[in-house]
Amino acid sequence: MTSNFKSIIENAYQHTKPLKDQGKLATYIPELANVNPDKLGVHMTKIDGTSFGVGDHLEKFSIQSIAKVLSLALAVKFLGEKIWTRVDVEPSGTKFDSLLLLETYKGIPRNPFVNSGAIVICDILISHLENAREEFLEFVRDLSDIPNLTYSDNIADSEKATGYRNVALCNFIKSLGNIKNDPAEVLDFYFDMCSLEMNCEQLSRTFSFLANGGKKLNDGKKILTSSQTKRLNALMLTCGFYDESGEFAFKVGLPGKSGVGGGIVALYPNKYTMAVWSPRLNANGNSFKGMKLLEDITTHSEMSIF
Ligand code: DON
Repeated sequence: MTSNFKSIIENAYQHTKPLKDQGKLATYIPELANVNPDKLGVHMTKIDGTSFGVGDHLEKFSIQSIAKVLSLALAVKFLGEKIWTRVDVEPSGTKFDSLLLLETYKGIPRNPFVNSGAIVICDILISHLENAREEFLEFVRDLSDIPNLTYSDNIADSEKATGYRNVALCNFIKSLGNIKNDPAEVLDFYFDMCSLEMNCEQLSRTFSFLANGGKKLNDGKKILTSSQTKRLNALMLTCGFYDESGEFAFKVGLPGKSGVGGGIVALYPNKYTMAVWSPRLNANGNSFKGMKLLEDITTHSEMSIF
């Protein structure tokens, strides 16, 4: 890691830490309300393998929707292009848990990152894998190099007890013919998938294959083709922040994905992956300080994909 990047990251952390945080914790999943809201961490992994982090970057948090990129990667690996007949690739312009457009588009979610789309991806994985829950976990263990990674039962149970909107989404899509399995089984897998926990260092390493043409950094193992990698990065740019995807591209200028645990991962193809964590969310469900911190880094490094 060049000292230049280190000081840009350190300065961005120092600028962001004291900002008045206008966001709120995601309390609709009760377990997420128990997190210290003042946490702030950032970690960058460059594709030369060097890495650097500041603040609470080694503390685990719930990655939530960030995991939707990983389930999509596994589904694309198995299904290839056929997958796009089940989910579309358009920004939704709606909140992540919206039911609004499903009727209009006959049960085809706008993209794989809104909850409806990620639920359909879970259904696809259940149809194509012997044991989707275990095989998805194995896939993420391999990507992250965390051999003992497990789902968090506390988080999954907490969401399961209150996830009425997701239950509604899954049943509604089933009624429109785009869920093939038992909705209860699909939802169980969806809640487990969202319950994975990682720290910023692990998250930036896990996503580095997407900055490296689809190959893992440490052993060069091919996870996706370069075309599939392009597709996932394009979807993160256009749909990764729901109704704030335009704002993220405008201010940060990188493909990325947020989660209601307050994490964001963003990447610069062929250069680096960054993960930030700050639990208070803005009105669109994205980390308030996480977005500010990333904006500071791309502004001061004068490096964005644009
Ligand atoms: O389904 C949910 O509502 C959560 N498990 C995931 C939502 C999420 O992370 C949205 N991201 N900003």
